[in-house]
Amino acid sequence: MGIDADFRGREGIKRLLERRRQEYERLSEEEKKFYDLERLENPFSDSRILNVANEKDVKRVLVGIDIEPAEILLAKEIGNIDLIISHHPIGRGLANLHEVMELQCDVLNYYGVPINVAEGLMFERIGEVARGVNARNHQRTVDAAKILGFNLICLHTACDNLAAKFLKDEIEKNDFERLGDLLKFLREIPEYKEAEKIGAGPKIYVGSPERRCGKIALTEITGGTEGSPKLYEKMAIAGIGTVVGMHISEEHKKEAEAANINVVIAGHISSDSLGMNIFLDKLEKNGIEIIPCSGLIRVSRN
Ligand SMILES: [Fe+2]
Repeated sequence: MGIDADFRGREGIKRLLERRRQEYERLSEEEKKFYDLERLENPFSDSRILNVANEKDVKRVLVGIDIEPAEILLAKEIGNIDLIISHHPIGRGLANLHEVMELQCDVLNYYGVPINVAEGLMFERIGEVARGVNARNHQRTVDAAKILGFNLICLHTACDNLAAKFLKDEIEKNDFERLGDLLKFLREIPEYKEAEKIGAGPKIYVGSPERRCGKIALTEITGGTEGSPKLYEKMAIAGIGTVVGMHISEEHKKEAEAANINVVIAGHISSDSLGMNIFLDKLEKNGIEIIPCSGLIRVSRN
């Protein structure tokens, strides 16, 4: 599902995996020993199986946006949990988070930013993110799952792709004139409506309700984490008027302002929930019971 919703399309993903296969073939025997073979089949380095405690049919899953040792203990307390699913990457998925950011080059290119410019600015930022995640305690939650005997997986970009595709299709169906119209539309989406109730609903970060949207781009929903702040100027030149994102840092916000790009923040945990829900609906259809936790706003579209 993550591949089908990807901005690169099935063909683009096929080419990416083929390139990785060729890279692998060229490695020495010594280098091959440390190569993560899953990279050859799975394009999403931040979505993977982290612990297999027991091979059993999955009937009941505990699903959360962030799974930490507390949620593993929660699963034990609830009982009869066959699998725990985290949205945000943990373990090896977190250590390799930066790899999925390459996707952002293609997303930007889709909206008109020249690929050489997107790659130049993104690769600098990917290096920063790689060094940042390197310092983290990657295995903490995985260790808890091992000790208590739980199956554990994480699904990050695979599901963020589903949220991006959903929003892109909906936004392209409509022709929003002003930011206020776009905001009103987002607030009708159940996950965002729920978030609104606790004060975390969609907000305009740059621009105002009366401002016109221009071309709306979904450049900040999928692709790991925030891209380069230097991109806003390039996006403005490429003809983008408004960016819809999950979250934005102050530095990025300032750059967007300077480039006159409007920014509508749909919401972080609510957008993560939207993508997860589209996948979870498939599980539900297959008779799997879903227990949401850790911020997941569960909405069924079945
Ligand atoms: Fe997230």
